Amino acid sequence: MRLPLPQVEPDPTLPRSVTVYEVGPRDGLQNESTVVPAAVKAEFVRRLAAAGLGTIETTSFVDPRWVPQLADAEEVLGLLGDEGRGARRPVLVPNERGLDRALTAGVGAVAIFGSATETFARRNLNRTVEESVEMFRPVVERSRAEGLWVRAYVSMCFGDPWEGPVPVARVVDVCRRLMDLGCDELSLGDTIGVGTTGHVHRLLAALDGAGIGPERVGVHFHDTYGQALANTVAALRDGVTVVDASTGGLGGCPYAKSATGNLATEDLVWALEGAGVSTGTDLDALVATSTWMAGHLGRPSPSRVVRALAGG
Ligand code: HMG
Ligand code: MG
Repeated sequence: MRLPLPQVEPDPTLPRSVTVYEVGPRDGLQNESTVVPAAVKAEFVRRLAAAGLGTIETTSFVDPRWVPQLADAEEVLGLLGDEGRGARRPVLVPNERGLDRALTAGVGAVAIFGSATETFARRNLNRTVEESVEMFRPVVERSRAEGLWVRAYVSMCFGDPWEGPVPVARVVDVCRRLMDLGCDELSLGDTIGVGTTGHVHRLLAALDGAGIGPERVGVHFHDTYGQALANTVAALRDGVTVVDASTGGLGGCPYAKSATGNLATEDLVWALEGAGVSTGTDLDALVATSTWMAGHLGRPSPSRVVRALAGG
């Protein structure tokens, strides 16, 4: 039996189509206690692509001692071959050592990842905010010279578990500095899932005022407080059309303990397709993929839509 789909009632306040930036293989798996074998990771990426996801962040070229879950980045990309290359298969790269590894693996797109707060910059990158910008500078310069597509994440845009509230002006300042390095796209990270809709609107307006319009911005909401979908819809109403999500709702950051799963791709797809917004994805295939991955991880998917449609 085919799974049910939402009744489609177009919402004229939303864009006609949205690009889902899938982070399951990277953000989703970096925080799992189970280390998934490289062959399963490669199969995960293949299944996500077959489900219609165009952009898939495949892995991370960070120090493997910092994130052992993704220490097999080279092996995963080797198994994927051409399916893991090109401008729509980004990988996380913090520094030139990571870029050297990524270039050797033949990647076509990279993502640097800064922090709006000093505490998280120190904990996640072992650097101050200023030092991390300087660490990223040659990464972006060399990536552009190699013709790679470059994304800049900024974490803790909506609150920080150690520092508390984060001033919008400070977030905009870090975003501006990273985009000034020459990045193609910015992704606003709500690493610990505390943001709410007015905050999203205010930050997007402030970024627009600083010359970073919504056409260059993606949103990256973790769902700790159940706000990820509401915040995503708020961002779409403000002109954003790139949304980060993780199939099955996996995700989190090992260096921010209060970070839980990302917005589940299935929950996003249900909401958008119901509102007449095209995502280009096949919900049945996504749910089947999450159920398959839940078997490897030994725990049910936290996605509400996966649980409703597949019972786990
Ligand atoms: P460090 O210890 O300061 O590094 O770590 P270093 O430059 O001093 O180098 C020390 C050693 O590490 C050297 O080796 C380097 O070669 C090696 P040694 O000489 O001692 O033998 N090394 C590397 N090896 C392999 N690949 C590399 C690499 N770099 C150095 N790339 C560093 C600094 C940035 C490397 C470290 O802090 C790190 O890897 N951090 C990554 C943490 C991480 O991955 N966090 C999760 C991703 S961010 C996230 O999830 C948030 C996001 O989803 C958005 C959101 O939700 O907000 C994106
Ligand atoms: Mg994240």
